[in-house]
Amino acid sequence: MAAACSPGGAAVTASLRGASHGGRWYLVLRSRGTARTLRLPLSLTTTTTAAAPVRCAVVGSSIIAAPEAAPLEGSGRRSEQLAVPPGMVDELVEEALVWCSQHGLVVGDRNHPRSGKAPGVGLLHAPFSLLPMSFPRFYWDQALELTPLFNELVDRVSLDVEFLQQTLARTKQVDLFTKRLLDIHSEMVELNKKEEIRLGLTRSDYMVDRATDLLLQVELNTISTSSNGLACGVSELHRNLVRMHEKELGLDQASVVGNTAITQHAEALARAWAEYKNPSAVVLVVVQQEERYMYDQYWITVALKERYGVRTIRKTLAAIEAEGELRSDGTLMVNGWPIALVYFRAGYSPNDYPSEAEWRARNLIERSSAIKCPSISYHLVGTKKVQQELAKENVLERFLDNKGDIEKVRKCFAGLWSLENDSIVVSAIESPELFVLKPQREGGGNNIYGDNLRETLVRLRKDGGDELAAYILMQRIFPPASPCYLVREGTYAKENAVSEFGIFGAYLRNKDKVIINDQCGYLMRTKAATLNEGGVVTGYAFLNSIFLT
Ligand SMILES: Nc1ncnc2c1ncn2[C@@H]1O[C@H](COP(=O)(O)OP(=O)(O)OP(=O)(O)O)[C@@H](O)[C@H]1O
Ligand SMILES: [Mg+2]
Repeated sequence: MAAACSPGGAAVTASLRGASHGGRWYLVLRSRGTARTLRLPLSLTTTTTAAAPVRCAVVGSSIIAAPEAAPLEGSGRRSEQLAVPPGMVDELVEEALVWCSQHGLVVGDRNHPRSGKAPGVGLLHAPFSLLPMSFPRFYWDQALELTPLFNELVDRVSLDVEFLQQTLARTKQVDLFTKRLLDIHSEMVELNKKEEIRLGLTRSDYMVDRATDLLLQVELNTISTSSNGLACGVSELHRNLVRMHEKELGLDQASVVGNTAITQHAEALARAWAEYKNPSAVVLVVVQQEERYMYDQYWITVALKERYGVRTIRKTLAAIEAEGELRSDGTLMVNGWPIALVYFRAGYSPNDYPSEAEWRARNLIERSSAIKCPSISYHLVGTKKVQQELAKENVLERFLDNKGDIEKVRKCFAGLWSLENDSIVVSAIESPELFVLKPQREGGGNNIYGDNLRETLVRLRKDGGDELAAYILMQRIFPPASPCYLVREGTYAKENAVSEFGIFGAYLRNKDKVIINDQCGYLMRTKAATLNEGGVVTGYAFLNSIFLT
């Protein structure tokens, strides 16, 4: 069942195997370049057979890899970039660049000094892939099915004070940012602050693992889930290009999946706002000082205004601290406006809290009666440490009741380990190309790979250990690569590229009533296979769309 891939030149094969004793699952990774084999314990057991990859089979008391001819996940169809016929590239790139400019598929130009502050100044098309990615319906359906399960899981975990505090207790001791967030959480618990109306706008990110053909979750975002605006634009761009060149491309535009992220996220915000039941209250969007991705955000807030008549105001955390106050009934007032809902498009990174003022603002928001998207609890559920804890044996069972649902969720978990597990640390030092080392950070550019990973782990082990709790280790996923034209700043390059796709979700409840629990469109991102990180905002990845096969 093994397939090969090349992280930075070293060929790697992977397979999933079960041991003959205890029914444990192991991820077996072989690095051909270094002739090393790793056998990593996973949190899967034979009691959860439906969670077993279909390319494995039970033989006696062992679970072994099925032969190569066994049916593949995704019906044997590969996700790969659609080919551009020779001679059409320049024409398509030009048409696409014009389309972006005319339809608002734009970001701020970092070379323009005011582009991150003033709308309408210094615009540039968003980076994009020239044609969509062909993508098997099998994975698409699987990811859609998972979305309401993850939404519900986030909500349930968010209510478990003990789980959140215990899971992050060691991390808190060595990571100041996590500590500040947890301290706010503790303070709200002490105040007995209850969030009765809860809104989550989530995005669960996945990659197809080339070696096993499994759809594996990269992470689950619960704060400032971005690209919900621009992702819609790129599927429209691709649909338009395919429609205009249907014959030459030999493709049907109906297979380019339309994207509903703007309409559905705007609707979720509007319905949450309505639950607050104060027609004169507004939505407060928390933003960074400079925001070159502001048009992504405006797609949502303009839809909120135009479709539902809900007004938004945009403020930094510093401005909220300066202009905000709490009324005795708990109403958050900012610059004279009552706030129904706080929509965070900032506040996920330590950079967003340069002084105590920003922390005071976060605290003020949390103490208020405004709906928070997300609340401090939802924010904490999205940490990497919680992701790793949820992947441990029998932890999902604490939050989900239905066995089938648990198996579906568990099936998409990649190998995730705490660094308390020294044998994994040793394995990662030996074969860093097979792992990703992750601190508790959001926003891209923070993960550690390759030689840096090895050096970091060697140093942390030598220093005596405590700081190890700031990180988790994750199995590195290697998606299939295919040639792709990637367009940035008006020029294109042909790259061997890999993709990652996320499904947006929305979850809204008021006390016992679940008002929305749905998937809300998707984000497909493509990047050169040689790159480690993958964000569009951070400049690594290119927006893409899905051509369902
Ligand atoms: N296990 C993995 N295997 C392969 N690539 C990974 C893995 N984990 C992360 N990556 C790559 O690194 C990128 C950033 O990782 P991750 O999503 O965990 O960090 P983040 O800072 O939370 O990012 P975001 O800003 O998208 O929320 C991913 O988009 C992906 O391209
Ligand atoms: Mg993230």
